[in-house]
Amino acid sequence: IKKIGVLTSGGDSPGMNAAIRSVVRTCAFHNIECLGIYRGYQGMIEGDFKELGPRSVNNIINKGGTILKSARSKEFMTVEGRKKAHESLVKAGVNALVVIGGDGSFTGAEVFNSEYNFPVMGIPGTIDNDIFGTSHTLGYDTALNTVVEVIDKIRDTASSHNRLFFVEVMGRDAGHIALNTGIGAGAEEILIPEEDLGLERLLESLKRSKESGKSSSIVVVAEGDKIGKNVFELKDYVEENLPEYDVRVSVLGHMQRGGSPSCFDRVLASRLGVKAVESILDGKSNFMVGLLNDKVALTPLEQAIKGHTAIDTELLRVSDIMTT
Ligand code: F6P
Repeated sequence: IKKIGVLTSGGDSPGMNAAIRSVVRTCAFHNIECLGIYRGYQGMIEGDFKELGPRSVNNIINKGGTILKSARSKEFMTVEGRKKAHESLVKAGVNALVVIGGDGSFTGAEVFNSEYNFPVMGIPGTIDNDIFGTSHTLGYDTALNTVVEVIDKIRDTASSHNRLFFVEVMGRDAGHIALNTGIGAGAEEILIPEEDLGLERLLESLKRSKESGKSSSIVVVAEGDKIGKNVFELKDYVEENLPEYDVRVSVLGHMQRGGSPSCFDRVLASRLGVKAVESILDGKSNFMVGLLNDKVALTPLEQAIKGHTAIDTELLRVSDIMTT
């Protein structure tokens, strides 16, 4: 292995820059070259590359987003697109690839590896934390902190006006952000895709909460929840059925994906970057590097994509007890 390519793909997340920095510097440490690939797989197809040395990644450990930009490439999903991408890599002398992204990005890496036997290594980067084989994905911890900070602010105004707020947080298929920030910010109820609370139970719980003397409430809703109504419809539904409630909605949106990474995400990114490069140099391929029981560990990409990290039922119970 003489040259490793690195790219970021899919939804960006805080800590991706710290991971790029780690990959670049680990390559330099082992005297191999590192090529930055812009705009994910699309840049790989188009040959949008830049040589990266240890000084190219100065002052980015603290920055959100990704200096390499990110994209979701439709062309890479085609045989033709991947052929062009392979030709670009061969032309640039790249012998292995580090892909920083989520399950869609890993699926692309796996297919590319199976077609060209090209060494690939994944680093999980998504705020959703929905990747199997790691307790934490890059950006998840930062997103949790961002969301809790914002809900604390919403609580101030909710409490001043005796209001109920539905706060929608990200998490397309997973409720990790909602469940953890819901507990962390003291939410009344938490709606997640993994557990359908049901509309009736939501109403009962809100009624009970009012009767117990609470004047304001926060309900955290994961965008992928399965209750069957979006947050605005939920607002109307609750106001119709419980007229004693004055309800507002706050959709947090993409602000959850930005911002300076937490210390946890910076350290995680640094560890995963070192392991990704050193695993490639050890002759390994088609794995994801992740954190399991606080140790850096490899999981086959296929399992990382298809596996499912279950929601911790202890957290569900804690959340129930805390709303007493
Ligand atoms: O997968 C990360 C994520 O932030 C999801 O939580 C969200 O549903 C999605 O990306 C939004 O994607 P886009 O940037 O395309 O709007």
